Amino acid sequence: MRIAIVGSGYVGLVTGVCLADLGHEVVLVDNDTAKLAALQRGEVPIHEKFLPELLARHRGGRLRFSVDLAASARDCEAVFIAVGTPPTEQGDADLSYVESVARDVSGSISSYKLVVEKSTVPVYTSGWIRRIMLRNGAKADSFDVASNPEFLREGTAVTDFLYPDRIVAGSDTERSSKILRQIYEPLTSGRYYSEAHAVPRPEGAPTHLPPLMLTSAKSAELIKHASNAFLAMKISFANAVASVCESVGADAKQVCQGIGMDARIGSRFLNPGIGYGGSCFPKDLLAFRSVARECGLDFRLLDEVIRINEEQRQRFLRKVRSALWTLRGKRLAVLGLAFKGGTDDIRESPAILLIQALLQEGSQVVAHDPAAMPRAKEALPAAVEYAANPYDAARGADALLILTEWEEDAQLDLARLAQELKYPIVVDGRNLYEGSLMAQHGFTYYSVGRPTAAPEEHVGSIPGSIPKADRKEAVGAEGER
Ligand code: UGA
Repeated sequence: MRIAIVGSGYVGLVTGVCLADLGHEVVLVDNDTAKLAALQRGEVPIHEKFLPELLARHRGGRLRFSVDLAASARDCEAVFIAVGTPPTEQGDADLSYVESVARDVSGSISSYKLVVEKSTVPVYTSGWIRRIMLRNGAKADSFDVASNPEFLREGTAVTDFLYPDRIVAGSDTERSSKILRQIYEPLTSGRYYSEAHAVPRPEGAPTHLPPLMLTSAKSAELIKHASNAFLAMKISFANAVASVCESVGADAKQVCQGIGMDARIGSRFLNPGIGYGGSCFPKDLLAFRSVARECGLDFRLLDEVIRINEEQRQRFLRKVRSALWTLRGKRLAVLGLAFKGGTDDIRESPAILLIQALLQEGSQVVAHDPAAMPRAKEALPAAVEYAANPYDAARGADALLILTEWEEDAQLDLARLAQELKYPIVVDGRNLYEGSLMAQHGFTYYSVGRPTAAPEEHVGSIPGSIPKADRKEAVGAEGER
């Protein structure tokens, strides 16, 4: 099928290369000519696994680039809208880019078009797109509007697209459902997975064929907002439970594991930390809250999810203060700048917000991140130093803070780390290590929702630290997992 994708940002680019890999003819449309030229040269603007390979495989072949929306739409049967929907000052989604695409497409309809919303939009947007197209002269039976939300996580976006839990196709006519079914047929039939070039199934991905769930357009729009809100709520719930664990001396990792083993709850997105960030959850929660308000519902649960998330960063700061007493003049090694591991994205990154707070308190920060340092340099004050690796960052520092869940940072050479630091203090905002192991290496180790671990000689002088006997028990419990 010939498909135009409008917007070559995260969602548009990943959708474009993946649809090309499924065998469709794709044209990626953007008004940023420099960006298109870079893509044409095979340069990938974002850090995303498999994206460079797929771009190299299809550019110039099944994947083309264009600045001409009208001409691209004219040539295609389906037009996916994947432009940005940034938040307004009130927290609503700004839909002006979506509206402008709808206007432009309506002027170029010479044969039937299916317009598909891929950007995250509030419920009723499909209705508005339809109205705008009719107002701009498109005939009622010459097009349909459908909602096909994405559930891609940054860092694993390509495999999330190709090995989805479900595909949600929200459409209100048989004709448009048929087109969406056709577009995703290589996945739903399993044909794609038997092809030699197919991107391999990642560990943990569903092994069953992805179901295509047909819904109304409005339901699909709500599924997207409600999914992100629910996931954010799970994280805030885990963070609130972790705070209770800290007060009573329980272990939040064990508690969340115990909760998550109930199949009705599920273990994913129950990791406590320094709060969620990124370009989706914070924005989508505000937008969903606005949608609810417009419908006359005060969805206060969402306020609480947001409040707990912000409080989580404050709690972490208090933890750093309790580990170091005063922060002015302290040299702090920071591991992690991205909003999560596996990406170079620092939008709404809790790590960046925490570094800004630490600088304000007069600390010196020397940071390392496997991917996000170039972007962080643009966003953070010049006073922040950057190190080539975690050990260089740790050299001579008063403490080490872990702020992003990078796999690399969960496998550090602890003996070397202890040698580099001026004081063997680690404050881990992502629970990457076990306290018993850290204490064995001589660290005083603070984490989220778990008792502080410290070498035997320090126990007693550190509030909340685990006595040796209890620590052994905790190690035993770990071993049984
Ligand atoms: C999220 C959703 O997971 C995707 O399904 C959705 O498609 C996407 O938003 C979107 O709307 O476009 P993403 O923002 O890439 O994806 O990142 P997540 O993996 O969901 O992580 C979000 C934040 O939550 C990160 O800061 C992460 O560190 C944090 N997190 C995640 C936790 O603190 N604890 C957890 O257990 C899981």
